[in-house]
Amino acid sequence: MRILMVCLGNICRSPLAEGILRSKILTDAISVDSAGTSGLHEGELPDPRSIAVAKSNGIDITDQRSRKFKVADFDNFDLIYAMDQSNYHNILNIARNSDDESKVKMILNESNPGENLNVPDPYYGGDKGFDNVFRMLDEACDNIASKIQ
Ligand code: 4NP
Repeated sequence: MRILMVCLGNICRSPLAEGILRSKILTDAISVDSAGTSGLHEGELPDPRSIAVAKSNGIDITDQRSRKFKVADFDNFDLIYAMDQSNYHNILNIARNSDDESKVKMILNESNPGENLNVPDPYYGGDKGFDNVFRMLDEACDNIASKIQ
């Protein structure tokens, strides 16, 4: 099972989602990666605020570098989790067929089924926003981890 976490910049939310889910996965049979719908921060480390909140929860995300989501990701992953509705629609816009489309989910539907809630973009806010994002993703990833392994 190959899982891809996707946000806009791949520096705040999806690197946290990747790190959190990885920390809960106990088997080599599952791989986790992340990407951004924009290439705005290509090659960059996660945002220092994401690195800090991950670290304070015992997770190291400093091996990650931002990359842009690409069409080949539909072939390379089984499940693609969007952080918000904008990411979700941007991914679906480049899906080639219904197989591609069926892989794309809203991540918070794993904790709040059917509600299509957004993980709020914390980029322009303070550290509290990152704590909040961490908590939301931790809950969703608990449910993903118990479902897939
Ligand atoms: P992310 O947050 O999508 O969670 O990585 C953002 C990072 C950068 C920007 C926006 C959101 N930006 O506009 O540069």
